Amino acid sequence: MLIAGNWKMFKGPAEAEAFAVELRGRLEGVSGVDVAVCPPYTSLAAVVQALDRSEIAVYAQNVHWAGDGAYTGEVSPAMLLELGVAGSIVGHSERRQLFGETDETTAQRAAAALAAGLRVIACVGETESEREAGETEAVVRRQTEAIRDAVGTHDGLTLAYEPVWAIGTGKTATPAMAQDAHATIRSVLDVPILYGGSVKADNAAELCGQPDVDGALVGGASLFVDSFASICETAARIS
Ligand code: 13P
Repeated sequence: MLIAGNWKMFKGPAEAEAFAVELRGRLEGVSGVDVAVCPPYTSLAAVVQALDRSEIAVYAQNVHWAGDGAYTGEVSPAMLLELGVAGSIVGHSERRQLFGETDETTAQRAAAALAAGLRVIACVGETESEREAGETEAVVRRQTEAIRDAVGTHDGLTLAYEPVWAIGTGKTATPAMAQDAHATIRSVLDVPILYGGSVKADNAAELCGQPDVDGALVGGASLFVDSFASICETAARIS
């Protein structure tokens, strides 16, 4: 079971470092769960240092496919590896919705990052209108197939099912909805699959307890040591 905290565009280096030190202390002695935090780029170095020789992994929130080149604003897999970063999220719905990320670019990012030796959490999930139109299965299938076709199963690959309507809204997929989507994803690509979308300390056990749910990608609740640590402890207890 993996619990990953996606900090999005929150926590500059000083705040991130203080958080990491506190989280490290709080999770000492918690075993049976893998934990990762995903700070913004400018906070990665501080968090890698603060978590040096701890069990908590540090992931970026995005990564480019090229080794280097004229790609203003992008960061390569090698640059992240040089910092001591273990992996990266790719294809988050905020990237897809706000910054033009597509199935194709998500797959390219995933393939290049894995080939370079990073771990990857690749995100899929339907919008509210897609769910209302009965397209959930087709959408997550299409998104997952794009990743599968570029990567196949790979030891370093994890998927995250994040229904867009459940992100930052307090609306969570029911455990049954999450299980259905995860089973669809698994039928296309058999790798660990996290659930994301308004995961909190009080719903983590039920969601992570579903047979095809292998952990959580946590946004808002990962910004506070208490709530994030308590989700990690819950996952450790039920795994
Ligand atoms: P929230 O947990 O804030 O809904 O965000 C989920 C998410 O987007 C994690 O990547």
